[in-house]
This record gives sequence, structure tokens and C-alpha cells, in this order.
Amino acid sequence: MPAALKFDFTAFTRPRGVLVVFCEENLKFGAATQRALAPAGDFVRRAAAADRFTGKSGTTLDLIAPAGLNLPRLIVVGIGKGGEAKSRDIVKLGGVALGKVPTAAAQATIYAEFASGALKGNQVADLALGARLRAYSFDLYKTKRKDADERADKVEVTFACSNPAAAEKSWTRTAAIADGVVLARNLVNEPANILYPGEFARRVSSLGKLGVNVEVLDVAAMKKLGMAALLGVGQGSAHDSRLVVMRWNGGKRGVDPIAFIGKGVCFDTGGISIKPAQGMEDMKGDMAGAACVVGLMHALAARKANVNAVGAIGLVENMPDGKAQRPGDIVKSMSGQTIEIINTDAEGRLVLADVLHYVNKRFKPKFMINLATLTGAIIVALGQEYAGMFSNDDKLVERLTKAGEATGERVWRMPLGPEYDKMIDSKFADMKNTGGRWAGAITAAQLLQRFVNKTPWAHLDVAGTAMGSPQTDINKSWASGWGVRLLERLVEDYYER
Ligand code: BES
Ligand code: MN
Ligand code: ZN
Repeated sequence: MPAALKFDFTAFTRPRGVLVVFCEENLKFGAATQRALAPAGDFVRRAAAADRFTGKSGTTLDLIAPAGLNLPRLIVVGIGKGGEAKSRDIVKLGGVALGKVPTAAAQATIYAEFASGALKGNQVADLALGARLRAYSFDLYKTKRKDADERADKVEVTFACSNPAAAEKSWTRTAAIADGVVLARNLVNEPANILYPGEFARRVSSLGKLGVNVEVLDVAAMKKLGMAALLGVGQGSAHDSRLVVMRWNGGKRGVDPIAFIGKGVCFDTGGISIKPAQGMEDMKGDMAGAACVVGLMHALAARKANVNAVGAIGLVENMPDGKAQRPGDIVKSMSGQTIEIINTDAEGRLVLADVLHYVNKRFKPKFMINLATLTGAIIVALGQEYAGMFSNDDKLVERLTKAGEATGERVWRMPLGPEYDKMIDSKFADMKNTGGRWAGAITAAQLLQRFVNKTPWAHLDVAGTAMGSPQTDINKSWASGWGVRLLERLVEDYYER
């Protein structure tokens, strides 16, 4: 995959470099595409027949030095029946298209047209988004690259379309989202020796350049606020905990903000209730919820969104140590409620308990959405296709579901209820931090709910979707950046449509 991408938007002129075109079933091309392929005569048709390519979705035809076309390569991407394409389908096609461009190519042209017609400006931008996400790779720590010689340093990708000005305009907005996803992926991919709470907070501070107000609360400040639930998790670590509050005030003055809260466990060993060695390295990604919030705030600020939004992330490292908290310990959260620690590996909910309460009390948000790699149980229930969604508000559920279907970052509602809530009552304190083996994702959510009162709230358990991600057309990386596109769409729908 290319090291750097440069995007251009032009009219349907003569293609340069590798040409990618789309085709519907029965080898149906759009008008501009047909014109571009005309010099090849019936070559494409004969090549397709030889390869039994008809344009079915998920198939491609790859032709080297196509006769008559004076191009190094022609790639035909099948899109199936065509018709009304959803935003998420177009993003995916952008990923497919770029994935077919060989790494050695320095130039490619993508014809933004289906048989049914040229793509609209925002659809062209969606194609570009898919291409950008597909091209992402995290190789900061690779000092030897085997294929460095054959790889182009920079690839110029031209999107040929019917209204380049509209596409360009849409792209300035969509590029902000792409950058937010890339930022989130980078944070999740970073190892925990590099990205500990203090360093994480420093990196977030750079959002100041975009006009985001960033406040960093240290251990002393959190002690003053009474955040013993969060602080208890971090007390066994050599790295001090942090709470970072980001504010983007792009909306009307005085309008209550919407709030996003992230679990930022920079590494989760499990603490004294230590995890097994197998796979523990993945726990560097236990801050994916926080990374998503940062990526989202970046996207909103970079596209100067007309909203007031707060992002808050609790940054800790969960370590076993002489100073670490123990099973049986009881901590008093900022809300005043006490929590008995049964298992120090159920730490994310302790962090979120204090951050949710803090945000709710300080900002009185219209709604709060938190993201957290909270439980292994949600992976057992939903795998890696859907994030678990828990909420006290049907309207918010509806909005999230809709945004999920549009972007492909899908959420599935899970139940909450008094019967589950009872499972975390404690003999010694107001509650305990685990509810036993059954319904593990739900009892974790019940604990969070005890810290949100009546504010409309949703908790997204992203343990399955944000890390250790399966390879898709728009992501080849371990970290998917899951949630940035979902929440950006939610915000857009909430305020601006
Ligand atoms: N960070 C983990 C959850 C997790 C597991 C995320 C796998 C991503 C992949 C969380 O802190 C945790 O350890 N949860 C425990 C809770 C249990 C001790 C009640 C779990 O799910 O096993
Ligand atoms: Mn844990
Ligand atoms: Zn964790």
C-alpha cells in the first residue's frame, strides 16, 4: 500500500496511470466510462468473457496494458445490481478500488461513475474516504521494509467526476472524518510503553491547533474532586492517571453540549486479578474508546461543525503492584456511591463511573455517549460485527442505529433492567464491580447506568469492533478506528439535517 496519497478531483478527462472503473451486472458501464474505454474497441468485452466477469458485486477484472488504451492497467470493479447505493457501500467501493492499485503505481485515476450515472459530490468524497482508509497502515516501528524498492513513495489518485468543484468541497469535510479515523487508529496501534496516560494527554493537547479547548486534570486535581474509583485503577502504575476534557464550541453560545466519554486504559494487565499471558499484548488497545472520542473531536473541529461538543477521557494504566488496589477494597466514587472491588480486571467501569458523573454534573449535556472496550462478554455475544449498545433512551438508540446502518459501524441494542441491576448489589458497599459470569456485558452496563441519572445516555461496548479487527475493504490494520464515522454521522444528523 502507498506511503502517501494525494487526491485530485477533475472532470471526466483522459485518464492517467492505473484506471479504475465501475461496472454493473451484465457489463453495464456509465456513459463517461464507455467513452474512456472506446479506443479499446471490444477488447474489454472479450477479456471479460474470457474471465467470466460480468460485473457481479465483489468481483474485479484486472487488465494489464490494455490494447488501444495507452494505460499501464485497467481495473474494472463489479458493483452488482447498482441502483441506490448507500454511503457505506460507496466508501467500501473506494477501498476496493484503491486495494486493486498495485503498490508500485505512482498514479491512478478512479472514474466516479456507475451505469446509472455519475456520482454526486458527497458520493465522490465517500469513495475518497474509502480509499484513504484502505491505504492506512501503521508501520512507525518497522525499520526494514522488504518491498521498499518496488513501492511508490507517493501516489496521486485522481477522481474523475461530473462536478469536481462539488466533490472537492465535500472532500474538505469528509477528509476531516478520515483524519479523525486515522488519528484513532494510530492511538490504538501505539504500544503502551510509548502511549501511557501522560503522553496520551500530551497528544490530545495538539487538538488545540484546531480550536479545541483541552484541559488536562492530573492526580491531585482528581483527588480534589473525589474520583477514587478512577484513581484506584491507576494507583498500581508508575504512570500517573489523567482526565482529559476537550471542548469544541462550534454551535450557538449557551446551548447545552452533547458529550462523548471514552475508556482510556492505556494497558490492562488485569491488575492483581491478573490476566493470562496469552494475548495480553492486545490490552494496549484498551484505550480504543478514548481514541475514538479524540478522533471524533478532531473530525468535528477540523470540519468546523456547527455544534457544541464535549469529549472526556479517563486515562489510566491497570497494573499489579505493591500499591495496586486489591479485591475486597472499597472505593468511594465522585458521586458519593461506594464500590466494592471484586475483580481488579473489571476496571473500565470504575474509570467510567467517575468520568460519566463528572461530565454529567459539570456540563449538563443533552445526551452522553460513552465508548469502552469494556467486556470480553460482548465479543462472545456479538462477535466483531456489531458493538453492543445499552441505553436509557429509545430516541438515542434510534439515532445510533440509523447512523450505524448508514456508515456500516453498526450497533445492536442489549437489555438493561432491575433484575440485572440487582446482580451488582454488594454485601459491604453500594455496589460491587462484577456481577458474576452470566450477562457480563449487561451487568457492566448496569454499573455505568448508576452514574448517569436521568440524562439520555448510551454505552457502546466496542471490545469486539475497535481492536483485533478483521481485515475489510477499508481497514487492514489491527485498530479499526471504530466509532468515529458512526458518531460523526450521528452528530451531523442531530444538528444539521
Ligand atoms: N479490557 C477488558 C475487556 C476486553 C476483553 C476488551 C477482550 C477487549 C478484548 C476488561 O477490562 C476486562 O478485563 N473485562 C473483564 C471483566 C470481568 C473481570 C468481569 C472480562 O470481560 O473478562
Ligand atoms: Mn480489565
Ligand atoms: Zn479493560
